[in-house]
Amino acid sequence: MPGGAVVITGTADTSRIEAPVTVKAYLMCAFAAFGGIFFGYDTGWMGGVLGMPYFIRQYTGMAYPNVVYPDTGSDAYKAYKKTFHLTARDQSLTTSILSAGTFFGAIIAGDVADFIGRRLTIIMGCFIFSIGCILETASTGLALMTVGRLIAGGGVGFISAIIILYMSEIAPKKVRGALVAGYQFCITIGILLANCVVYATQNRDDTGSYRIPVAIQFLWAIILGTGLFILPESPRYFVKKGKLEKAAKALANVRGQPIDSEYIQDELAEIIANHEYEMSVIPQTNYIGGWTNCFKGSLTNGSSNVRRSILGILMQMMQQLTGINFIFYFGTVFFQSLGTISNPFLISLVTTLVNVCSTPISFYIIERLGRRTILIFGAMGMIVSQFIVGIIGVTAGKPEKKNNPATSAMIAFICINIFFFATTWGPAAWVIVGEVFPLPIRSRGVGLSTASNWFWNCVSSFFRLIFTPHCID
Ligand code: BGC
Repeated sequence: MPGGAVVITGTADTSRIEAPVTVKAYLMCAFAAFGGIFFGYDTGWMGGVLGMPYFIRQYTGMAYPNVVYPDTGSDAYKAYKKTFHLTARDQSLTTSILSAGTFFGAIIAGDVADFIGRRLTIIMGCFIFSIGCILETASTGLALMTVGRLIAGGGVGFISAIIILYMSEIAPKKVRGALVAGYQFCITIGILLANCVVYATQNRDDTGSYRIPVAIQFLWAIILGTGLFILPESPRYFVKKGKLEKAAKALANVRGQPIDSEYIQDELAEIIANHEYEMSVIPQTNYIGGWTNCFKGSLTNGSSNVRRSILGILMQMMQQLTGINFIFYFGTVFFQSLGTISNPFLISLVTTLVNVCSTPISFYIIERLGRRTILIFGAMGMIVSQFIVGIIGVTAGKPEKKNNPATSAMIAFICINIFFFATTWGPAAWVIVGEVFPLPIRSRGVGLSTASNWFWNCVSSFFRLIFTPHCID
């Protein structure tokens, strides 16, 4: 294998291969996890902005209801107020166009990450995202906002796919699950921050109402992009490229050990041996062949590429089909539709807080109980709580019954549902995607799985519009 003058020695003692986990290793991964803030914040702000009076007036050209009908108690006022919103088509366009951008961004990102490296791809994602963000901030109409969302989505696609790849490759094996779960934690913080900012600006009667929440995103791009200039490249990327000297340096950097220490030598030898083995069983062909490699092998063989790709894609699909984003995208309108809640926004905020506060439990249980076990328990918990919400919703909790205790019970079980998601499927789906692919197909596999997340994210919002259009029109 090419790669410079390093001489790699190794050990057969696999229990001793990794260096002790240093504070530096934790900090590096914690910083990389910051990319989750983009994901969460971008997911979170649009729903709130769509409900802002100034934004609606600006984007539809309609006058404020109290200007057209000063008598706010009149039927005419009430009827007009009901029509004061963007059409369902425009709402779904502005919401889902982001997922279209992220879908393509995530698919392309894998190839880019193999070509220019993981770190530079994330930095590039921050740059693309910032261009989209400029257009969104500048927009005063639907066309520019849509283009801006599409481009920003492309950047989020790059970031969301490659952060997982990067973190899985630099995190020490012993705590990889917990550290990648940190990414999920940042997603939840991003959603919470978006909710808080939108709450604070919702009643402004100027462009600041929507421009402030949009422009705050620059901050995330600047922090992540600048920080990544300082962080090292993934040693596995260098091994893949045959640059062993650089790989050794990067590994020494992420493990906080001298380059010639036995830990670094042993771990590098293991990475190289794994890669060489994987290369020997996965034929290296042209560009198209590289993609078809992701689907090679037998469906009945649990460790074949095709089975791993299907696992990653379905894992993300099922994560979205838990319906979690119904609460985070449309929670406010849903709580409004229950008819007994005086401050639906506050309840929405509570749901995002439950999400944030429950996620750290996963740091512990994901390593202690294992990925599969928590997925099974999480799914069972969500099934039971969703059934209960559904049963109450069509019986004692029907909006026309105005039954406060029943509504409170529904909210409680919605929060329990979020708790089960946040401690299991939320983080575990990302951890598994980061771990399941062998190096030769890893970047594309992670890209495909992330694209699947965004695809189903978009599809599930779309179905929500079909099944509950009354919340909008
Ligand atoms: C999902 C997002 C979701 C978030 C909620 C993530 O793992 O992929 O779609 O909004 O969790 O915390």
